[in-house]
Amino acid sequence: MIMAQIKKLDLASTSGASINLEALYQICPSAFTEVRDEKTGQIERKINFTTLRELLGDNAYEGTDEEYGFNWVGKRAAQQEAGRPINKTLRPCPEESVDWEHTQNLYIEGDNLDVLKLLQKSYLGAIKMIYIDPPYNTGNDFVYRDDFAMQKDKYDLQAGNVDEIGNRFRKNTDANERFHSDWCSMIYERLLVAYNLLRNDGVIFISIDDNEVDNLKRICNEVFGNSNYVATIPWRKRTAKSDVPFGVSQDYEWIVIYAKSDNFYASVEGKERKYYTTPDFPNRPWRVHDLTKQTTASERPNSYFTIVNPKTGEQYPANPNRTWAITEETFETYYAQDRIVFPGEYSFLNIAKPVLRYWKEDDMKKAGDSFGRVAVSTKLPDDIGMSQDGTKEVTNIFNGKIFSFPKPSSLIKFFVKIIHDDDALILDFFSGSATTAHAIMRQNAEDGGNRKYILVQIPEETAEDSEARNDGFDNICEIGKERIRRAAAKIKSENPKAKDLDTGFRVFKLAESNMQDVYFAPKELQQQDLFALVNNVKEGREDLDLLFGCMLDWGVQLSLPLAKQEVDGKTIHIVNDGDLVACFADGIDEEVINAIAELNPLRVVFRDSGFESAPLKINLFEMFKQKCGWSEENVADRVRII
Ligand SMILES: C[S@@+](CC[C@H](N)C(=O)[O-])C[C@H]1O[C@@H](n2cnc3c(N)ncnc32)[C@H](O)[C@@H]1O
Repeated sequence: MIMAQIKKLDLASTSGASINLEALYQICPSAFTEVRDEKTGQIERKINFTTLRELLGDNAYEGTDEEYGFNWVGKRAAQQEAGRPINKTLRPCPEESVDWEHTQNLYIEGDNLDVLKLLQKSYLGAIKMIYIDPPYNTGNDFVYRDDFAMQKDKYDLQAGNVDEIGNRFRKNTDANERFHSDWCSMIYERLLVAYNLLRNDGVIFISIDDNEVDNLKRICNEVFGNSNYVATIPWRKRTAKSDVPFGVSQDYEWIVIYAKSDNFYASVEGKERKYYTTPDFPNRPWRVHDLTKQTTASERPNSYFTIVNPKTGEQYPANPNRTWAITEETFETYYAQDRIVFPGEYSFLNIAKPVLRYWKEDDMKKAGDSFGRVAVSTKLPDDIGMSQDGTKEVTNIFNGKIFSFPKPSSLIKFFVKIIHDDDALILDFFSGSATTAHAIMRQNAEDGGNRKYILVQIPEETAEDSEARNDGFDNICEIGKERIRRAAAKIKSENPKAKDLDTGFRVFKLAESNMQDVYFAPKELQQQDLFALVNNVKEGREDLDLLFGCMLDWGVQLSLPLAKQEVDGKTIHIVNDGDLVACFADGIDEEVINAIAELNPLRVVFRDSGFESAPLKINLFEMFKQKCGWSEENVADRVRII
């Protein structure tokens, strides 16, 4: 019998390929087969392309030069970048957090592409709403760290300016071309990863202006699918300016909206349509609908007829300038289905002509789950602020102008409201001055909701002699966090009812992996590295770093409650009553393992070098089997070492 071994926790972020493969497996398992991987020797699930092609029949397409699509220089590289796993982690910073113990909100500092990749295991399909306000590519934006933008030589190669050994064979001097391409790659990579995080009934709202709106929509059509395009909402950012090109002042920006699937629906809060419940239909709420249409008798001769009430003989001739909406035949069908209501039948209905009855169930079918709520118009309500209101809001909070062009919180609050989910987890990965957190807190204070957020922001330095720098804010993350603190205090003081509002946030910072590089490349390990491996954790990384590193790598959400237990001087970390239990101490003995087993945990992590003796590590399988009643497979699945 082969002795079972405790597996190492996979500490790289998940790859895009493995997410795609899993999604395909869910819808088409018969295209998969098991083969032995040449590199690892392990049996692995792989896709059989020949089978897949057969399953798809005539719909399989091999690709030629001529096909519909949106292309730019660097697109393929961006696709690869989005799928590439990284060896990074998020380091917890309780000292910069607010209400670390209880809050369910996260504030993450770092480049958002890396952060999104790291969140993929824990937040796959977990986000209800994403709002982003990315750099608009106006030519002045801080957009990418150096290696986002393609290196000049790589760009030349992809643009066809040079061949692989550097011979220039075609000159492309259109500098503007690259400018757009870089932006497209930047947003495409991030949207590809963000897509995986959205719930099936989730939605993304993207603020954008004229510079890149066309490109953005093409990219979104590809990432989210044309059929999931919801709308483009114009947002008035300012009053008209004079002295503008062509004499036209473009005062609007756009909010481009895509759903993850047709399970998403939005609706205006609190305006549920009026339904009647009447003794003749005790369990079937209904409402009515006009039965005429803006068409003339010559346009719709079949709908130009006289309706006769079969019970009373009363006649209702059609109006030649506004005919019935239905033909005589449809009228007969509707009448037989009890869907025609005549004047006088119900005293509360003030009607002079027959009307159409709508059942509540029909409404619900038509509008998903929205119970006949009123649809959202692409014209935003008048009380939504302009850019100057966003500036005023932030300036008031800080007594100074320390962030340029924040969005007004009323704008984002409106989107938060129309998705109708009091418990939604909302992500903003270009969070700037943290308007999204402000908007969510305001909405929660207003309706007692429990919406939570994840904000991501790169620690972009503030300008040397700016007001922000002079006020002590060295980077934008410092502004964002301070805004949340101050806005929270204000909301609480203005809403005595909001005393239970979650105004805290856990801060995390993107960093290199907790583990030494040798952890990721055991095959390339040299003899002398084996000694280094005894301590495979980087210097300075604490228990809490390792704990959150393991949570990210094992798909456990970062906002869950944490507890500790001391056994024999060793700390046992317990996440959410046992979703994950970890002990990173040295000298782990039977007593510690017993205490962990008592918790009947879902997942357990130890350090490879942490066991008091080698036999104990081997014995671990037996101990968990006996104590928790787990099978051998259970132990292999649930226990990991780092
Ligand atoms: C237009 S601002 C967002 C403003 C925000 N909506 C507000 O109301 O304050 C875009 C933000 O994205 C940040 N940013 C740009 N590239 C980033 C990246 N790669 N990762 C994370 N943040 C980034 C910028 O620092 C900037 O603060």
